[in-house]
Amino acid sequence: MKRQAVVLPKRHTAVLHYNSRMSEFHALVPAAGFGARMGHELPKQYLPLSGQPMIFHALNTLCACLEIATVFVVLAPDDTLFHTYDWSRFGDKLQPLYCGGAERAESVMNGLIASELEPDDWVLVHDAARPCLTQAHLSKLIAELRGDAVGGILAVPVADTLKRADSGGRVLRTENREQLWQAQTPQMFRAGLLAQALQQCGSVTDEASAVEALGLRPKLVLSESTNFKVTYPQDLLLAELLLNQRGNRT
Ligand code: CTP
Ligand code: MG
Repeated sequence: MKRQAVVLPKRHTAVLHYNSRMSEFHALVPAAGFGARMGHELPKQYLPLSGQPMIFHALNTLCACLEIATVFVVLAPDDTLFHTYDWSRFGDKLQPLYCGGAERAESVMNGLIASELEPDDWVLVHDAARPCLTQAHLSKLIAELRGDAVGGILAVPVADTLKRADSGGRVLRTENREQLWQAQTPQMFRAGLLAQALQQCGSVTDEASAVEALGLRPKLVLSESTNFKVTYPQDLLLAELLLNQRGNRT
């Protein structure tokens, strides 16, 4: 089903009083980027990975999760590739929305509006470019956050020693890595809170940053480094090895 691109309203004010209806869980997968750092003519979400386009793997894991009701995938309005694959195995649970924006945050915001979720529904925003997400990661995130007032994200403590560079590419100093975490996805928030946060704080590289800007503190849920984002060509090789080793089981 093809939908029209959504025009952002001038002011989208979310209703933040939650009703007595059971909140549902939905996933929203931004997949409207070009993959410039991958340096391939094909947008990276469609690059072949373990016998499927990369985006298949995240969608497969999210669609297989029984707690998730719908998996919205946010595509560029002029995407011509998504419909060339057979997605019928996911049935109506998978909903493409052709309303991606120029920035990731805009794609998420447009997708949130087009999805017409209730303000108190949970939405799990997950990068199409993180194909190695597992059911265990998802279950842990949902279990740790379903009773939380704010929501949160999968993340891993920084393991490497961190160096601050000067403009000449030499070490200026070593940064203290204590209490530093690397943010991953899914990032899980109530749809109303997330819409309000993104509306008020346009340019962010993840949802949590927008929620933090409201003065809230998203919870860090311990993940694994295997849920990495495929950004550069070498990441693709690593993802391929991991998925093949798992035999494509999620
Ligand atoms: N994304 C999106 N809309 C955009 C930009 C990014 O939906 N305007 C999506 C990407 O498709 C990806 C996710 O956000 O699934 C994470 O972004 P990133 O890894 O940065 O992907 P790209 O922006 O495509 O890559 P690059 O930054 O290298 O161009
Ligand atoms: Mg990007």
